Amino acid sequence: MKRAPAPDPQAAAARRSAAAGLRAWLVGLLLLPGWCGAVDFTADERARILSHGPWPPVRVADASNRADGQPEAIELGRRLFTDRRLAASGELACSSCHDPARGFQDGQRFTRNHRNTPALFDLAFARWYGWDGAQDSLWAATLRPLTATDELAVTPQQVMRLLRADAGLHTAYRQVFGAPPATERVLVDMAKALAAYQATLVSPRTPFDDFRDALARGDLAAADRYPPAAQRGLKLFVGEARCWFCHTGPAFTNGEFADIGRPFFTRQGADPGRWGGLKQLLASPYNRLGPHNDAGADDPQAVATRHVTMEPRHFGEFKVPGLRGLRATAPYFHDGSAATLDDVVDHYADLDETRLHADGERILRALRLTPEQRQDLVAFLATLSAP
Ligand code: HEC
Ligand code: HEC
Repeated sequence: MKRAPAPDPQAAAARRSAAAGLRAWLVGLLLLPGWCGAVDFTADERARILSHGPWPPVRVADASNRADGQPEAIELGRRLFTDRRLAASGELACSSCHDPARGFQDGQRFTRNHRNTPALFDLAFARWYGWDGAQDSLWAATLRPLTATDELAVTPQQVMRLLRADAGLHTAYRQVFGAPPATERVLVDMAKALAAYQATLVSPRTPFDDFRDALARGDLAAADRYPPAAQRGLKLFVGEARCWFCHTGPAFTNGEFADIGRPFFTRQGADPGRWGGLKQLLASPYNRLGPHNDAGADDPQAVATRHVTMEPRHFGEFKVPGLRGLRATAPYFHDGSAATLDDVVDHYADLDETRLHADGERILRALRLTPEQRQDLVAFLATLSAP
């Protein structure tokens, strides 16, 4: 009589894991895409949730800035960012308003021109800069405060003096750019080093990202750790409330401009928003079509600049801001007119539709949300910040 073969522990383990795999697959089949955690998401809503990640995204180098991604340039930019000796007054640095300890902003309602100081995270993924998109590169957006007479007001002569006085800074500059020229190029180079540093500021992963990745893997246990209120708020965001129309993609912005019915009259007159930004952009010698673009005529991003036109609808449009890290960056909106996230949600919920003036904003309407729904949306927005 033949003896039964001895049980093979490896084969048994393989059978067990195959059975577990099958079970997980069946459970997945039953529960997805009709998600069965705290909240039911439709297949469309699930697809939209997944499109807000993964985070962080892969970064494409900025070809318009030859210093981009260079460790020496990043280090030089980091030093310049807090250096008050750069300013004509000797009293101001980038960090005076973009305070690294406050999420790279100042917590003020507005600082200049009735505009709120933006945090400087995730700018490497943007295409337009400033609330009005007056710049089309991070270095041009840096050159503006560097040279503006009501900000740092730096001149080439001053940079040359500083480089002569500080051997360490001089060496750092030479390493990246070669011998400093006593022309405006030395200012553009400083802006490019500062931009290389700012491009490294990427916001951290958040509870939303853990939920989104768990959903992508079909890991229900991990997904269920995301608070039910945030899940309900997320469902509104990608569904009924239609927030995702403008706040799309991993950074929660389509990178463009819109009118959401905020008043744009200030004591100094109207803020023309994107309309004024386009006017400045097209007239600027520092845009991507100009001689300071290190990618020259081949820069694929310059195409966008070549094709923009000023339309009346741009008047009073502002940049769609990304929504990561909001917990640290109150107050909100271009003029800092919303003190809290509750105020922001109330704006959308009680929207005065007669204030919408630009075409293309037909997506927005008064949402008339219940108090619980408002709280859920706020709870969701809060999960876009690291705890
Ligand atoms: C007096 C306060 C102040 C100082 C100093 C300042 N900024 Fe700003 N920064 C602002 C404000 C306000 C805005 C919004 C401007 C606008 O949209 O019109 C801004 C916008 C920006 C933007 C565009 C961000 C975006 O989301 O598009 C960048 C980049 C930037 N600043 C970098 C810098 C750098 C680099 C320095 C130092 C050279 C600097 N800033 C100095 C207040 C300041
Ligand atoms: C039509 C496009 C559009 C839609 C839809 C939209 N937003 Fe916005 N959102 C914007 C624009 C543009 C701004 C900046 C407006 C300003 O500053 O005047 C903004 C600003 C914000 C801000 C302030 C961010 C900051 O840093 O200041 C938050 C938060 C926000 N939106 C959340 C939402 C939510 C929640 C919804 C859905 C209820 C939503 N948005 C729908 C375009 C849109």
